[in-house]
Amino acid sequence: MATTAAKLSVLFVCLGNICRSPTAHGVFAKLVEQAGYSDLIQVDSAGTGDWHLNHAPDRRTAQVAATKGYDLSELRARLVTSADFNQFDYIIAMDNANLEDLRAMQPQGYQGYLGLFLDFSEQSAVQEVPDPYYGGEDGFELVFGLVEDAANGLLRHMQSSHLQVLGS
Ligand code: 4NP
Repeated sequence: MATTAAKLSVLFVCLGNICRSPTAHGVFAKLVEQAGYSDLIQVDSAGTGDWHLNHAPDRRTAQVAATKGYDLSELRARLVTSADFNQFDYIIAMDNANLEDLRAMQPQGYQGYLGLFLDFSEQSAVQEVPDPYYGGEDGFELVFGLVEDAANGLLRHMQSSHLQVLGS
């Protein structure tokens, strides 16, 4: 059976691509699947730093996700590159440092959306998903809650902004 290329694409970006952006990747991909959009929306994640290339998500990240019913075990860290701007309609940063790094590599004339993930949040006034890497376990729970909220908001945004692609 021939597969059709997804019509919309989303790339989540953090620093290491082992905590926040894989969480966003797994949570949003499941929402997309549950909404029946798997063939229409492609989801990926990447990092601005190269310390953990090809590593699976951080054990603490994977554990919190697993308790909420998400399996992140297939994900592997990769670097974001300027070529990603040719491929992704939405490039979504977890914090302002990620966003600044992305702006610095953004090719002129990029027509897609580049911004902060929590701009799509529906329940929180927090602007950045905080880096949990050097903190305690509750930082990973906090990340998960912020990500779930913003993932719901992002899907709703896409449903209202891309009616012709996604239908009603
Ligand atoms: P992430 O967290 O950006 O959410 O994946 C981090 C993971 C690793 C490091 C920093 C942040 N690090 O410095 O190795």
